[in-house]
Amino acid sequence: MAEFVKVAKLGDIPEGEGRNYPVNGRMVAIFYTNGEYHAINDSCPHMGASLSAGYVEDGQVSCPWHAWRFCIREGTWMDNPKSPLRCDSYELRIEGDDILVHVPDPAPRTPEAS
Ligand code: FES
Repeated sequence: MAEFVKVAKLGDIPEGEGRNYPVNGRMVAIFYTNGEYHAINDSCPHMGASLSAGYVEDGQVSCPWHAWRFCIREGTWMDNPKSPLRCDSYELRIEGDDILVHVPDPAPRTPEAS
């Protein structure tokens, strides 16, 4: 069962930037902006660029490859918010000087129908 995992210390991520960390088999992008931390899947759902390297502004990150924009709170694809295409978002909490993230275990694979 997945638990909260320590990924960084307060101050490791400069204001207005992101960093990526491996957690429970996935890469997680953590952004720090306006005094708040947010965690979403690091892999852009378009072609897999690292969103943590993107430009952060107004609660959104622009993908460094083709500039698709995603909400850093909920992972919504801001260029087409009604689309089901999105990034997963993850619970994050601060304990002392530590930043912790919870990435759920992947859904169990179901056997293929024969
Ligand atoms: S890889 Fe992110 S917009 Fe294309």
